[in-house]
Amino acid sequence: MLIGSAGVIIALGVMVGAWVDGAGPARADDAESLVLYCGRGQSLVGPLIEKFRAQTGIDVKVKYGGTTELVATLAEERDRSPADVFWAQDAASLGQLSRDGRFSRLPDSITGVVAENFRSSSGTWVATSGRARVLAYSPSRVKAQDLPASVFDLTDPKWKGRIGWAPTNASFLAFVTAMRVEHGDDKTRQWLIGMKNNSPKAYPKNSPIIEAIASGEIDLGLPNHYYLLRYRAMDPNYPVAQTFFRDGDIGNLLLVSGVGVLKTALNKDAAHKFIEFLLSPDTAQSFLASEDMEYPVVRGAAVPEQLPGKGAMERVTPRIDLDKLSDLEGTRKLMSEVGL
Ligand SMILES: [Fe+2]
Repeated sequence: MLIGSAGVIIALGVMVGAWVDGAGPARADDAESLVLYCGRGQSLVGPLIEKFRAQTGIDVKVKYGGTTELVATLAEERDRSPADVFWAQDAASLGQLSRDGRFSRLPDSITGVVAENFRSSSGTWVATSGRARVLAYSPSRVKAQDLPASVFDLTDPKWKGRIGWAPTNASFLAFVTAMRVEHGDDKTRQWLIGMKNNSPKAYPKNSPIIEAIASGEIDLGLPNHYYLLRYRAMDPNYPVAQTFFRDGDIGNLLLVSGVGVLKTALNKDAAHKFIEFLLSPDTAQSFLASEDMEYPVVRGAAVPEQLPGKGAMERVTPRIDLDKLSDLEGTRKLMSEVGL
């Protein structure tokens, strides 16, 4: 059930009652324990948390769950939540918690190491790594010089019947939401209509897009970057390539995972140490990149050779307000309006 022993929960109740200004307990640092709500998979991040424990001696109690489910738990627990840190899978959830006033501002020493496009404009959370939206294509049927410079160019009639996408996929919804934030609903609606007029083939998720390019069913697709890497790991000559649109194009969105410290956290110092650890280029950042093929968000982290664009994501990905990506409902509405 809840994290830790019943003793921890009772102790928290006492501490909460003792707060005077709602800003958290004023007491000396006893950074020896930490409660983490974790929306990322245990098999991936478990070893990292272990490393943090070994390095700092801080005892981390982790509650794993789906990101949306943990957001609901936090909403239910309100200021009695035992959570110090929330590590979420997506920016939408972090933006929502930030808007709800659940996070405290992170120290500049933490936000300062992450490029602006990878952190909340309100300074309440930072990205820890990201998955990139890319353009996948058949190198035999699409010449490099014919590749579209922008995701908006895919509405050109020359691509009619040649494009694949996964319009119901969570990554696609996040991408369209970002397009709305950057370009507004009207331009996004126009793009969706233009795409629809080009008769794209709809797939339930990303991997069949890659396979359909390989088999010749389509020539171009809009997946996340890591799917092709899986096929390439099995077959280095897999007949699909991937690339980015021009620098800053919304089609190059980096879907970030990220982390924030709850306003009600009792272990803020340990929480900040944990985030510093997650952002350390030599350990956590390189680990996330090599183990999960995700993009690091700090400079100096090792970027695997296979990642398109290499370490240049700060330049490649658009600069948008990550706190504004939570209106997925508005995106669903817009998409159903245009019949998608
Ligand atoms: Fe995925």
